[in-house]
Amino acid sequence: MDLFEYQARDLFEKHGVPVLPGIVAEDPQAAKAAAETIGTPVVVVKAQVKVGGRGKAGGVKIAKSPEEAEQKASEILGMDIKGHTVHRVMIAGGADIASEYYFSLLLDRANRNYLAMCSVEGGMEIEQLAVERPDALARVAVDPNTGIDEAKAKEIVQAAGFDAETGAKVVPVLQKLWDVYSAEDATLVEVNPLVQTGSGEIVALDGKVTLDDNAEFRHPDHGDLVDTASEDPLEAKAKALDLNYVKLDGEVGIIGNGAGLVMSTLDVVAYAGESNGVKPANFLDIGGGASAEVMANGLDVILGDEQVSAVFVNVFGGITACDAVANGIVGALQKLGDAATKPLVVRLDGNNVEEGRKILADFAHPLVTQADTMDGGAAKVAELAAGK
Ligand SMILES: Nc1ncnc2c1ncn2[C@@H]1O[C@H](COP(=O)(O)OP(=O)(O)OP(=O)(O)O)[C@@H](O)[C@H]1O
Ligand SMILES: [Mg+2]
Repeated sequence: MDLFEYQARDLFEKHGVPVLPGIVAEDPQAAKAAAETIGTPVVVVKAQVKVGGRGKAGGVKIAKSPEEAEQKASEILGMDIKGHTVHRVMIAGGADIASEYYFSLLLDRANRNYLAMCSVEGGMEIEQLAVERPDALARVAVDPNTGIDEAKAKEIVQAAGFDAETGAKVVPVLQKLWDVYSAEDATLVEVNPLVQTGSGEIVALDGKVTLDDNAEFRHPDHGDLVDTASEDPLEAKAKALDLNYVKLDGEVGIIGNGAGLVMSTLDVVAYAGESNGVKPANFLDIGGGASAEVMANGLDVILGDEQVSAVFVNVFGGITACDAVANGIVGALQKLGDAATKPLVVRLDGNNVEEGRKILADFAHPLVTQADTMDGGAAKVAELAAGK
């Protein structure tokens, strides 16, 4: 999960990283009040969207009075920045910037390690710096077991080219940023710019943080950071039901067991759908124990997708045998009752396939068609979805 800048700022503050005051506002009046609360002669009004380059797009503006903050907020709220509508701004204290630096720490998957990147030339687009003058961007490997301790922080500031005096001030800030990264289970912590003010203080003026969703169970408080307003409602529902679901934009609902089988089902359906002009509507892996309840939940989510016009259930019976899966489908259809309105193509194979097919045949539900093969099932469901 990517965080908004104001959420990153709050996490930074929690772990002792020096930040400026920041207050979120959803309308211009609140922006004015926030500027009054902050009380510095200059504040900065910043668009809160999960995309880079806000400054260039006109989403970061200076205001020299609360009235001006109100005015700038009204300009920024509702703006579209690279396809993201601005629903909130953060009013931040204005910094007297002497120098801008860059720092990031991220998960380096290829090297099974963490990687710190740091430069005394921050502020500008770091991607550009990395391409044009790679030497100006220090890359230092960070061992996850030891993290950024004082010695590592010194190594990073030295590689980045800080002078001794500034470097000594940046070292403790990097250690605090490591605390954010490790204690919050982040996969990215980026500060651009990290600045030195006119009076010589080091401050994180902008923050990007990505949290590791796999560590969610360790952080009940991270649930509050989810931006439910922009979450897909079907994905949110599936998540609440503990289903492995990804919404796509086609017409054929897909349910399978095992990520690999579901992925190939998507391919086969996409291929079969080409001539009918239909595509998969989702990815849904119901996993190993396909109980009636899980099947019903899965069907419920998929049938709730208005775009779906037919569903393909493609299950390979392994540990959970086909008869249990068939009973799951029967139970699901009984549970859904009149809510089940769209045709279902079911392909069962594997363990106890004969018993499974017999259960469905005996159930003889008017919406259910059985298919012997995955290709056959895909062709059939594509036809049904196209209304043929
Ligand atoms: N609180 C502040 N006080 C003074 N200047 C600021 C403040 N916040 C940002 N700035 C200035 O605005 C520039 C852009 O701000 P910021 O880094 O937050 O946005 P951005 O880099 O355009 O957006 P993104 O990081 O999403 O690409 C900074 O480099 C800095 O010069
Ligand atoms: Mg920035």
